[in-house]
Amino acid sequence: MAAPPPLPPLHVGVLTGGGDCPGLNAVIRAVTLALRHEAGARVTGIERGFRGLLDGRARELHEADVAGILCEGGTVLGSDNTCDPFHTADGSDRSAAALAFARSLGLDALVVIGGDGTMAIAHRFHQAGLPVVGVPKTIDNDLAHTERTFGFDSAVAVVAQALERLATTARSHGRVMIAETMGRYAGWIALEGGMAGGADVILLPEVPFTVAAVAARCRARAQAGRSTLVCIAEGAHAAGQGLSVSATLQGSPDPLRLGGVAAVLQAALQPLLDCEVRHTVLGHTQRGGTPTAFDRVLATRFGYHAAQLVQQRQWGRMVALQADTCVSVPLGDVAGRTRRVPPGHALVQAARGLGLSLGDA
Ligand code: F6P
Repeated sequence: MAAPPPLPPLHVGVLTGGGDCPGLNAVIRAVTLALRHEAGARVTGIERGFRGLLDGRARELHEADVAGILCEGGTVLGSDNTCDPFHTADGSDRSAAALAFARSLGLDALVVIGGDGTMAIAHRFHQAGLPVVGVPKTIDNDLAHTERTFGFDSAVAVVAQALERLATTARSHGRVMIAETMGRYAGWIALEGGMAGGADVILLPEVPFTVAAVAARCRARAQAGRSTLVCIAEGAHAAGQGLSVSATLQGSPDPLRLGGVAAVLQAALQPLLDCEVRHTVLGHTQRGGTPTAFDRVLATRFGYHAAQLVQQRQWGRMVALQADTCVSVPLGDVAGRTRRVPPGHALVQAARGLGLSLGDA
């Protein structure tokens, strides 16, 4: 009997969804190089996230297309955080058109790199019959079932350096300097950034604060001749108060944009203190620029593991880091969940043990 004809090479799509994040290009590079090197696969980049599936925007990726992008911030494919093909801006479901485009390209699989919103959409495409593998990204480090996401280390490094710089003004002028970090509903960036940058007060979404407690700490430090550095997460809030919302983005799967809590805290603290209180919002500086070496390596490990899952035809799964090992978890277990800082987390305990204030009683 004649041997069966060889299978045609795999053709794999890759897209980046949601906000940009240091390390996205490192994943695109690793997925492309590993699939081409190990499986002789064709790789096609879908441009501007899921929007590219609706707009028919895709381009083939070769080794030359991913050369030199390891250290670049952002994403060479472009991204989009307002397009959900299952629920577009006008309320219609255009997922069939997105699937038809993927099929017209002849894709055997799609590697989706993104945060929880993107993973939820990826899960729905998987359920609709598109073979999908997910790769977790977010500076917020808040995805369920993975102890790290790439981009987080880079954001923490930015926060730490910003705090160091703010500390010189705090000391020179005897001021209270407040830095507001990103992180949505999770305090990971503020916690690790605050610890790395030498903050005296760290305010997290998971630990509601009182203005009185923060003011008392600032006063005590001022009486001892010391300035105060406060690191506050954008999702932090005073006990009994709501979140500070800066905008509502129509059409986004996650429309609320947080921001402004540092200004609120500054206004509340100033009348209670004799020294000047100032605030700085670090904003998108935390998401921009080149990834740290740690994030380049993590993103490369994730991209390589995603390529392995594709070759093993393990669809509907997301790469995850558990006990510092790359594993995979069902997309359905990740979609719509977030991982927040447990109030008893070891680093929270360490902060308290060092005498830092978390703004609670
Ligand atoms: O999820 C990443 C993140 O940077 C959050 O920390 C922040 O709240 C949000 O995205 C900001 O999104 P955008 O760039 O759409 O304003």
